[in-house]
Amino acid sequence: MKIEFPKPFFWGAASSATQSEGRQLTDGKGENIWDYASKEYNHRFYEGVTTEDTSYFYRDYQQDIQKMQDISFNSFRTSISWSRLIPNGTGAVNPEAVIFYNNIINEMIAKGVEPFINLYHFDMPMPLQKKGGFENKEVIEAYKQYAKTCFELFGDRVTYWFTFNEPMIPAEAGYLHDRHYPYVVDFKRAAMVLHNIILAHCEAVKVYREMKLAGKIGIIMDVIPVYPRSQNPADLDAAEMADLFYTKSVNDAILKGKYPTRLKEVLEEYDQLPEVTVADLALIAATKIDLLGINYYRPRRVKAKEGVPNPKGVFSPEWFFDEYVMPGRRMNTSRGIEIYPRGIYDIAKKIQVEYDNIDWFVSENGIGIEGEEAFIEEGIVQDDYRIDFLKEHLTYLNQAMKEGSNCLGYHMWTFVDCWSWGNAYKNRYGFYRLDLATGEKTVKKSGLWFKETVENNGFD
Ligand code: BG6
Repeated sequence: MKIEFPKPFFWGAASSATQSEGRQLTDGKGENIWDYASKEYNHRFYEGVTTEDTSYFYRDYQQDIQKMQDISFNSFRTSISWSRLIPNGTGAVNPEAVIFYNNIINEMIAKGVEPFINLYHFDMPMPLQKKGGFENKEVIEAYKQYAKTCFELFGDRVTYWFTFNEPMIPAEAGYLHDRHYPYVVDFKRAAMVLHNIILAHCEAVKVYREMKLAGKIGIIMDVIPVYPRSQNPADLDAAEMADLFYTKSVNDAILKGKYPTRLKEVLEEYDQLPEVTVADLALIAATKIDLLGINYYRPRRVKAKEGVPNPKGVFSPEWFFDEYVMPGRRMNTSRGIEIYPRGIYDIAKKIQVEYDNIDWFVSENGIGIEGEEAFIEEGIVQDDYRIDFLKEHLTYLNQAMKEGSNCLGYHMWTFVDCWSWGNAYKNRYGFYRLDLATGEKTVKKSGLWFKETVENNGFD
């Protein structure tokens, strides 16, 4: 069977500043929460490996962009590091950062790699975090100024802009699930952070529109499609609650211009509603994006809650559903998550039906594997499992597109094995292998497969 994609189609990969640049505190870069946590909470990082040891994009960008061209990327997403560009979060711009971001943008364009630029990938500047980060409404203004600075500096060449990567994560991981700094566990504060991130997104879109730049602006969402254990009402309700808290809360605000009514009712009932003004809601209702990125890694399977929720503990979405361990599910054991290629089709259909069939692309999808060195033969990682993973997901995506989904491209996570927030280099995701000892980057079998796929705009 031949799987063919329409032309043009964006093919490439995604990464982020903190996960790839390295040189975190040189050339005028300010400290962000990851640099700070690396020092102060080093025990929380896998093998103590931190942001300084990323894949050296800051140093190697020319060779790296050449490597993108070598495997026929026509697009690539990365983020601007707020604390590299504006070291204190507000105020003076770092001229070295302007040179760096100009260089990478120009180099990508020269090599036929369309830059997709994201403004925020989990990396709050530390001086602003000390003021409360996105819990503090003043930080929305700081973010707006940062966004404006980026549009002014690079908006003449960057056509595709994104305000945030996975807006749910800084709220959920930083303020509820104890995974990202500031390691707070408090639902109401998490909800405040999420709401303020949504407002910051709206402000950035507004500024972008006011500047009348010719490009497009959107946001990157992580979507975990939810599947109930059965069709019985209690399981269906559990699935609805999981979806409400983790997906619809953000997606409806951004794409429908309003929060789901049921979510508001539940939060009111449990006294967890953050402060939301009429002006906030009007801003959300008035903001429209041009393009949506979807990060898809795994499904969420749920069942009705067993036993009673504990009203004395910290309020949490998990009060309303339990995880369902489906017998026979296919696992990526390295990362402990289920592999379910059909999820990408289900997401595409949801966008088509519920979100006006907006233009979108797969902004992240990929498989992180531990111990890839065991698969090196003749100097190359023989990652057939990654090729299979890509083929399966792309086949489902292609089917959705044949049924009318407006998907414009596919970016894998990631280009070169990069540092991860929780697991450093434990799980490798790249089309290129990074040798940690030498810094050498070598294409994997999947990178060569991808090149052929881009050149044929599909595969057999
Ligand atoms: C995505 C993030 O959710 O997942 C990336 O946008 C992240 O920043 C990727 O690296 C893979 O997750 P992890 O935890 O394995 O690095």
